[in-house]
Amino acid sequence: METLQGFKRTNYCGEPRLADAGREISVCGWVQRSRDLGSLIFTDLRDRTGILQLAFDDATEPELFKKAATLRSEYVIAARGVLRERSAKNAELPTGEVELEVKELRILGESETPPFEIVDNCPTNEATRLKYRYLDLRRPVLQHNLMMRHKIAKLTRDYFDENGFIEIETPMHKGSFYALPQSPQLYKQLSMVAGFDRYMQIARCFRDEDLRADRQPEFTQIDLEMSFVEMEDILAMTEGFMARVFKEVLGRELSLPLPRLTYADAMARYGSDKPDTRFGMEIFDVSDLVKDCGFGVFASAVAAGGTVRGICAKNAVASLSRKEIDKLIEMIRGIGGKGIAWARLTGDGVASSFAKFLSEDELKALLDRAGAETGDVLLFISGEDESAVLSQLGALRLEVARRLDIIPHGVMHPLWIVEFPFFEYDRELGQYVAMHHPFTAPLDECLPYLETDKSKVRAKCYDLVLNGIELCSGSIRITDPALQSRIFDLLGLSHEEAQLKFGYLLDAFRYGAPPHGGLALGLDRLVMQLLECDSLRDVVAFPKVQNASEPMTGAPGNVDQAQLDELGLALKSE
Ligand code: AMO
Repeated sequence: METLQGFKRTNYCGEPRLADAGREISVCGWVQRSRDLGSLIFTDLRDRTGILQLAFDDATEPELFKKAATLRSEYVIAARGVLRERSAKNAELPTGEVELEVKELRILGESETPPFEIVDNCPTNEATRLKYRYLDLRRPVLQHNLMMRHKIAKLTRDYFDENGFIEIETPMHKGSFYALPQSPQLYKQLSMVAGFDRYMQIARCFRDEDLRADRQPEFTQIDLEMSFVEMEDILAMTEGFMARVFKEVLGRELSLPLPRLTYADAMARYGSDKPDTRFGMEIFDVSDLVKDCGFGVFASAVAAGGTVRGICAKNAVASLSRKEIDKLIEMIRGIGGKGIAWARLTGDGVASSFAKFLSEDELKALLDRAGAETGDVLLFISGEDESAVLSQLGALRLEVARRLDIIPHGVMHPLWIVEFPFFEYDRELGQYVAMHHPFTAPLDECLPYLETDKSKVRAKCYDLVLNGIELCSGSIRITDPALQSRIFDLLGLSHEEAQLKFGYLLDAFRYGAPPHGGLALGLDRLVMQLLECDSLRDVVAFPKVQNASEPMTGAPGNVDQAQLDELGLALKSE
């Protein structure tokens, strides 16, 4: 193996163009592949910027040619030579018009045959790729994603700096294990009490929740807090940020202000508080039309104070056969629903699970409400619990759209969801909990309902949603200690408990708290959505998998006695 001594890289592989022909340059990187054509060897050299073809000619440089013949995939090499125009150009490569006629070659690191080829669309399973994540990360798509992530983080700092924000780091507590900062919520509020006025932090957060494509136990927030502002100011600041990101990352203008939906409308129309508005198929209500019909399932749901809602899948009769609908019914049962009533509008008439119980007029009214035409499929869900019916239909809407492949790619639909309920009933706990968090201020006009009707209380709380994913969430905070105590009371938190858990915040508020509010934007999710990736794993360098483990290092690992002693810990034996 050779060293780099005296060798100076002048260029990245992805840089040279035809105009550079004749220049002497030096490059370093990994061998993508080598083609031996007998008296010529062409080697593709890769670094994070792209690929450059190196040429070795037996006739002119026989020694170098011999050395080049030993190159294998993923060898690390350095090459110096003269750029020349290629005879066979490759239009797919930005550097495809030139090649480097090599004058000096150094082999800096050899490589065993890698467990998979370093290419995009690599067919190797994810488990293997994650085990060898350092090889996986060499793939151009992941190199690109992480470089874009860096770019977004940088422009985040630039944007908020230009707008007077100060980056303040908040601590992670030793000894609190997984209850490490869920988010810097209380610290950022204390920064407001401390007078910093505008706080931002690109903050690491830890959460012990189920893993999903859009959830990691360890993730990063762009965390913000502002003093002397109202909700509109925070939304405008965030919209300005999004417009900047769209411009610099996607080269697109984002038209502002962004659309808004209330939580109630989002639920009624899309069955979700993070609606994917890239396609229609909105939910409609037919309760009034079927309340007296002969179909017991519908009539009894309405009679019990419930609801009947539907969606209309356009031109779906061919794709949604009865067998396919059965699969959808299974899916709905899996999420707590009872089933689906359906109608397929075929050329031969209406085939339906319930139409025979309806009069002709009733059926017609139903089809009119749905805006249904021949070729469409109607799917209905009924039940006593309106919010459950809506969420089930929301899930169904997404599943049907996926099956019909009608979700457009390449479009971005950001929108705000506002006026969230303050309280959410937690069936497991058997009590009301704060839907966002207990420091969120209720809407002023809802204050009278706090004690009388919790379901009517809405919050000064907002989420930004992009293509069906919640990107960020925030609120105006309570700064009135009396109101805060009242809220803790309503959440079943005793004065002592509140004092124990958040006493320092309540104390701080006794010394002059400015009105403030903020939000946190998931950086990982933002990058994932902008780059249209399917999973956070495509934008996190070393992601976690099941059990919050990390497959490459095998972390979390066992610790030895000395380490335990140092931390003052003892392990229980099973
Ligand atoms: P919230 O809990 O809604 O709010 O989180 C804000 C944003 O953080 C991202 N996020 C996640 N990203 C990846 N994996 C996860 N497990 C994960 N959990 C959350 C999401 C989400 O919208 N302190 C409040 C914000 C505030 O009120 O200022 C908070 O953390 O993009």
